[in-house]
Amino acid sequence: MEILNPAKTPPFYINEDIEVEESLRLKYRYLDLRRARMKANLFLRHRVVKFIRDFLDAKGFIEVETPILIKSTPEGARDYLVPSRLHWGKFYALPQSPQQLKQLLMVAGIEKYFQIAKCFRDEDTRADRQPEFTQLDLEMSFIEEEDIFNLLEELFTSLVETLKPEMQVVKPFPRLTYTDTMERYGTDKPDLRFGLEIGDLSDIASQSDFSIFRSVMAKGGKVKGICAPGCATYTRRQLDELNKMVQGLGAEGLITMSLGTSAGSLNDLTLDLVRSVAAKFLSLEQIKEMAKRLGAEMGDLLLIIAGEPELVNIALDELRREMGHRLKLVAPNLFALAFIVNFPLLKRDQETGQWEPMHHPFTAPRDEDVSLLDTAPEKVWGKHYDLVCNGYEIAGGSLRICTSHLQRKIFKLLGYSDEEVEERFGHLLEAFDYGAPPHGGIAVGIDRFVMILAGEETIREVIAFPKSQTATDLTFNAPSPVTEEQLAELHLRLREEQ
Ligand code: AMO
Repeated sequence: MEILNPAKTPPFYINEDIEVEESLRLKYRYLDLRRARMKANLFLRHRVVKFIRDFLDAKGFIEVETPILIKSTPEGARDYLVPSRLHWGKFYALPQSPQQLKQLLMVAGIEKYFQIAKCFRDEDTRADRQPEFTQLDLEMSFIEEEDIFNLLEELFTSLVETLKPEMQVVKPFPRLTYTDTMERYGTDKPDLRFGLEIGDLSDIASQSDFSIFRSVMAKGGKVKGICAPGCATYTRRQLDELNKMVQGLGAEGLITMSLGTSAGSLNDLTLDLVRSVAAKFLSLEQIKEMAKRLGAEMGDLLLIIAGEPELVNIALDELRREMGHRLKLVAPNLFALAFIVNFPLLKRDQETGQWEPMHHPFTAPRDEDVSLLDTAPEKVWGKHYDLVCNGYEIAGGSLRICTSHLQRKIFKLLGYSDEEVEERFGHLLEAFDYGAPPHGGIAVGIDRFVMILAGEETIREVIAFPKSQTATDLTFNAPSPVTEEQLAELHLRLREEQ
């Protein structure tokens, strides 16, 4: 026997499916990747990307690589900067997405572009967010929104049928408006594998004698709820747990209403069968009206939040997800894909009050709303769409502005001075003056989609060498200090930390 290379005992079991602390797994990622589950994830990812490439190639798209060392491309996050050695005091920015580059490719006459592109965003890491991630980025000229929807519908349906035939995709994907989805699910990325839709109880609440409802309504708030079917017998402890959860999200608290103890018709409900702090301040008719609106019957539990509209939505979205899983209402083996359409073009920054793009500054306003940009920007709708799957936003895109005149107007509205516009976006504006075709596109988060496909809880499980939750690479121990010589070459000196 010849020993090719002696091997030490690894720091964790490789061929057993046991829980290992994630930082250890990331430090020894090359051992972690030997595990069957991780290998299967990498294999799946390879298949997905290969499928996408073949599919788009057959449809006449060409893949074009775009640079990584570039200039700031705003997508709402902080940039990663790279200091220039040759140009003193100047920096490249890593692309937050290839957005402007793909638009320039449209001006260049590449009518159908795609790229499996690396993107970099210095933002807080989450289970479905990494500082460095991969998009399927695509763009087309002379198209309408429906062209993108049809293409993605065909791509995702055929991909799932080929790579995960045991899973189900329902075609056509529903198209939900932003306003409607916020009303019904409290979020623009709803999990549509189950119902439990949110109901607005504000009008009933404002007629009641319950002081919490009345004071919230007087302050311009909302009272909304969902029904937890069959949960009327929840114990104090179970209710406290849900209350803590919504308080953790910033809500004042949860108002619960148990409707009797066993299943039955609402017609049989009497006031003494209702268990709630609000019960004695509401009439039986008001309670029945609330129950009806949430689709509840006897034996069900109403979960109600009163407060500032945005907080109410955040809390009910989370509650809805929690109850959907707890009550096992989530349809198994289903990819519930849907397009969210009709977004407002702009939103106000909470702190500065400044207009911000809902998507990014290159999204076109609806044609009939352009004149409102001068008078009532809050009323302008954008040609922006998202694709959601099982409660995640897996893609976002839009039809773009393609004239320098309109693009300048948007930049101005967003608070850029003329000098800033020229300095940051002059190249794009100039390009638009050379016959830019109408164009639009979308970008799919590859990591997120593969995570859902693989049934994983975080995108770190489908990335070979991900960053940790504090944005460090534990295998390489990066970021790391550099030498004085390297800093000097880059014309940099480190500041003393305050
Ligand atoms: P957007 O910013 O919506 O659009 O990104 C598109 C999709 O990329 C994924 N994604 C992420 N995945 C992991 N970690 C992150 N930090 C992260 N950020 C985004 C999501 C998201 O839906 N240029 C536009 C696209 C366009 O308009 O064509 C863009 O980047 O799945």
